[in-house]
Amino acid sequence: MKTEFCKIGALAQGRAPDASDAEILDRAAAILRSGGLVAFPTETVYGLGANALDAEAAKKIYAAKGRPSDNPLIIHIADVADADKYCYTNELYRELAARFLPGPLTVILKKRDVIPLTVTGGLDTVAVRLPSDPTARELIRRAGIPIAAPSANRSGKPSPTKAEHVLEDMDGRIEMIIDGGECKIGLESTIVSISDGHLNLLRPGGITVEMLEEVCPVSIDKAVTEKLSDGERPLAPGMKYRHYAPDTKVVLLDGSDAEVADYIKRNAPNGKIGLILSDNDAHLAAGTDAKLLTFGDSDIDEAHSLFALLREVDRLGCDVIYARLPDKQGIGLAVYNRILKAAGYEILRLG
Ligand code: TXA
Ligand code: MG
Repeated sequence: MKTEFCKIGALAQGRAPDASDAEILDRAAAILRSGGLVAFPTETVYGLGANALDAEAAKKIYAAKGRPSDNPLIIHIADVADADKYCYTNELYRELAARFLPGPLTVILKKRDVIPLTVTGGLDTVAVRLPSDPTARELIRRAGIPIAAPSANRSGKPSPTKAEHVLEDMDGRIEMIIDGGECKIGLESTIVSISDGHLNLLRPGGITVEMLEEVCPVSIDKAVTEKLSDGERPLAPGMKYRHYAPDTKVVLLDGSDAEVADYIKRNAPNGKIGLILSDNDAHLAAGTDAKLLTFGDSDIDEAHSLFALLREVDRLGCDVIYARLPDKQGIGLAVYNRILKAAGYEILRLG
């Protein structure tokens, strides 16, 4: 299959869609309505979209990604009120929607019959998301159907935050890739289960625990911060898979600036080491020949760059990559969750 690569212009820069944008989006919408696959930008990561009402189209997503069929898909809608067509909403949905939607929050509710079990991995619930990215919203609106979309990476690779990452993983496997530039947030949406009127956090993201707590009490699924033992199952089936893992071993360092600097100095001569550090911390590697990948100064910058950096890690040709253990405040919890998985839960306590 030939994969078309189409660049969105005006809309991706915050202006009204121009004629070229409209032509691309109408063509993409037609592909989706006829059962094909289109990758598109969102404010979190790129999604791999198909008609969420068509079980055959959803099957193509699992095939293109190499994704296990028990791992359910998120359906994307263009309007808060559309959720009622696909699931049984409640008061908590309306409160969260008023506060956070459109935006990087996915809610899980009991599904209605129109959503095929293929989309929900056999579950009687469905994950619903209303993205804020203008290209995503315009595409869903023009398609006139809900769009099932997991992250547009091959299963096991980091989620794509640039259209080039999607091309790397999906060239020849899908009909079209819409390039809307870099994703603003860079980590996947926050997922909350609210079908019983209580909020359970299944995956942390751009809508933080602190923000959610302004609306209602929050319980956090154990799988967010800990490795589950063999018999345990996370509430989001996808959280059990080994995600975001480069081939190079990644180890998280937990310690003060002095302890980290000392550890790097002692270990740099023992082999080729790589480091993922903030610009502020780059000096901790001074005087060593460690290869450095930096992401800016804040946890927001780390969230934005993490997946792109994890895609670069294997190109460095290092024996091991070290990163610092992020703190768990705000979006830090989402960075912590993703980088912990990339490191196979390996933390070195230096103190
Ligand atoms: O930001 C995002 O959410 C991106 C963009 C494209 O919207 N999408 C995304 O989808 O990250 P995906 O498929 O990579 O991750 C969806 C996660 C998986 O861990 C899946 O198991 C979980 O959501 N999930 C989906 N439906 C569920 C359900 N009914 N119950 C529990 N977990 C569910
Ligand atoms: Mg994914």
